Amino acid sequence: MKHERKWEETRSDIIPRSHAPASSLSTPTTPEQPNWEILRRDFPVLDQQVHGYPLVYFDNAATSQKPRAVLDALRRYYEHDNANVHRGIHELSNRATAGFEAARQRAAKFINARSADEIIFTRGTTEGINLVAQTWGSKNIKAGDKILLTEMEHHSNIVPWQLLCERTGAKLVYLPVTGDEGHLDLREIDELLTKEVKLFAMTHISNSLGTVNPITELCARARKLGVVTLVDAAQSAGHRPLDVQEIGCDFLAFSGHKICGPTGIGVLHGRLEMLDAMPPYQGGGEMILSVDFHQTTFKKAPHRFEAGTPDISGAIGLHAAMDYLDALGRQNIFHHDQELAAYAYEKLSGIKGIRLFGPKTGRAGVVSFLLSDVHAHDVVTVADQRGVALRGGHHCNQPLMRKLGIESTARASFYFYNTREEVDRFVDVVREVQKFFGA
Ligand SMILES: Cc1ncc(COP(=O)(O)O)c(C=O)c1O
Repeated sequence: MKHERKWEETRSDIIPRSHAPASSLSTPTTPEQPNWEILRRDFPVLDQQVHGYPLVYFDNAATSQKPRAVLDALRRYYEHDNANVHRGIHELSNRATAGFEAARQRAAKFINARSADEIIFTRGTTEGINLVAQTWGSKNIKAGDKILLTEMEHHSNIVPWQLLCERTGAKLVYLPVTGDEGHLDLREIDELLTKEVKLFAMTHISNSLGTVNPITELCARARKLGVVTLVDAAQSAGHRPLDVQEIGCDFLAFSGHKICGPTGIGVLHGRLEMLDAMPPYQGGGEMILSVDFHQTTFKKAPHRFEAGTPDISGAIGLHAAMDYLDALGRQNIFHHDQELAAYAYEKLSGIKGIRLFGPKTGRAGVVSFLLSDVHAHDVVTVADQRGVALRGGHHCNQPLMRKLGIESTARASFYFYNTREEVDRFVDVVREVQKFFGA
């Protein structure tokens, strides 16, 4: 107890220093009126030329860029506070522990979890989903059970469930996608979401289509049948407000690196009742109460699921990222993303021979397309030569691509530091490719 009180005492002087809140933004922006153009200056990496052109970074669905507030938090941590957590009684260890646990509190607030005990730090969305599949899944899934996914899932929300099905004899079923417009075909839901389904895992926002799924409604339907739900929030957490209590999901996972935070850190949220009933994930230090030669007792959630030295600086950087985003207002970010995506979609629609994927309206900041007879990689290569960073490929959505009868798409994905002028440059490049290949 004495030890714990020490963390609290340390917290007040360490946290403001280690996690400068978004007041360190370069302009006095408010959640009501962020100045997107000026905010760009918070991102040093954006201020560069690529192949002789000013960089246009449109690969935000893969990973976002990092503002100075996050870079500074990481540097401050390593320059002043670096030590291992939960173990030492010395000052630096106490500071590191306070910073790490403060990040957990911040993550709980970020998604309105009921308590910081519902927040497990992971390496990212993929590890969060694997953790649920391996612990909750191994305990609760048996032969004959069904796991419901959607056809637009990222491989990270397919493969862990396939592995679980192989181990247990359970079966995967998929809620279909309508086609190029990329909506979930909810006409099929009554037939597919039945009592035999033990888990319904769904993406909030599709990383290749930009579809925003009605997860609150889907979770409510599942809950009525006693079906456990998991939301893949990799593409939504940093782009729109998230409230796990309102969504009503049992689990939700996201990655720090897609929301302006560092790579190597992510969050798995689980309802405490679920986490308390789950066996450990990995074994090792930090997650034990006591170890004997033949037997171990474990800590409660969340520490039971965090074996070994965690990514302390990652959590501290993530804390700064969450402060930064909330100072801008995630609702504002979402509107900005949507406006850019709608603008890009409209301009691209005018190009001869283009095939656009995803909803015509209401899409998130992702636009995927193909030019007839031009490979997506060729589009991306030419764009790169003009300083425009796109992504081409299956975007870890191979089953969806096969369903749509394609191998890949070219994808532009936006964030709040992108501008309409950048969209103009990108569309000019696509026109140039179309002319060059005579598509
Ligand atoms: C929808 C979705 N889910 C899961 C992931 C996996 O995220 P990570 O690689 O950070 O674990 C991604 C990454 O692109 C994604 O877009």
